[in-house]
Amino acid sequence: MIVTTAQLFKHAYGKYAVGAYNINNAEQAMGLFRGAIESQAPFIIQISKGARAYTDKRMLEAIIRSAGDIFPEAIFAVHLDHGDEQTCYECIDSGFFSSVMIDASHDPFDKNVEISKRVVDRAHAKGISVEAELGMLGGVEEDIKVEDGHATLTNPAEAQEFVKRTGCDSLACAIGTSHGAFKFKGKQSLHFDVLEKIKHLMPGYPLVMHGSSSVPQDEVARINAAGGTIAGSMGVDVNEYLPAAKLGVTKINIDTDGRLVWTRVHREFFRDKPSEFDFRPPGKIFIAEYAKFIASRNKLLGSAGQLADLRASLGK
Ligand code: 13P
Repeated sequence: MIVTTAQLFKHAYGKYAVGAYNINNAEQAMGLFRGAIESQAPFIIQISKGARAYTDKRMLEAIIRSAGDIFPEAIFAVHLDHGDEQTCYECIDSGFFSSVMIDASHDPFDKNVEISKRVVDRAHAKGISVEAELGMLGGVEEDIKVEDGHATLTNPAEAQEFVKRTGCDSLACAIGTSHGAFKFKGKQSLHFDVLEKIKHLMPGYPLVMHGSSSVPQDEVARINAAGGTIAGSMGVDVNEYLPAAKLGVTKINIDTDGRLVWTRVHREFFRDKPSEFDFRPPGKIFIAEYAKFIASRNKLLGSAGQLADLRASLGK
């Protein structure tokens, strides 16, 4: 059942974070839904601009609709990840999305406000909620690359002004994470002080943590042992998900970790079976492994086991 992102946030706020997982194809969708049901967790499916263009946006929407039919117990929202203004309007008008993200965080403050506000007005007219971003995460997110030293943490006072002026429903804050597999050099460091200050200024307001993959080192080691060359990677400490949730983070974005599961499964499979050319056996292994990964993450986010209570609170 597709619900609004606002309904998910209302249930989660201050208690747990909803996992927001990016998907591009049917195998990821199957793994995601299976893992969510196994762990009895609500979730958010994220679709990026690149994912919409990968096969065809209609194909991806059909896959998600079908997954919803195959797993009628699932409660989830569908969200556009890192949209530009035009893509936000397309998704708002499509009638399929629960929420969109407008990412104008690379623009100066006033321009970010102006663009985000336009998207909020169009989205709210259709009952869709909007995530905006303030501050700048480092790393690479599809076609956006932020060089080291240009990433900036969210300023809490600016965050308050930004939310007031745009009316956005949730805010992606830069608290030290970055997109991709190379998040930290040396010690991992999340800025909980920024979350604390924002929570103090805006109690009850839902925050979003991007760049939250943990980049499991055993996964990376297996990829490298099977021919990969992912060196020096580092992710977020999974034990920091729940403390962030208690400080108002209701949505935690995880994409890279899923790609690592895919890469490990396929590299190992074809290394061990060099004469194989049927892609379905590794595809099946991937679905099972991704489901396991999703269930494990939902436990760490605190969303595991919340499905029945959420359903009751929604009166369904
Ligand atoms: P990761 O690269 O850490 O998975 O972050 C994904 C993300 O924030 C998508 O918006």
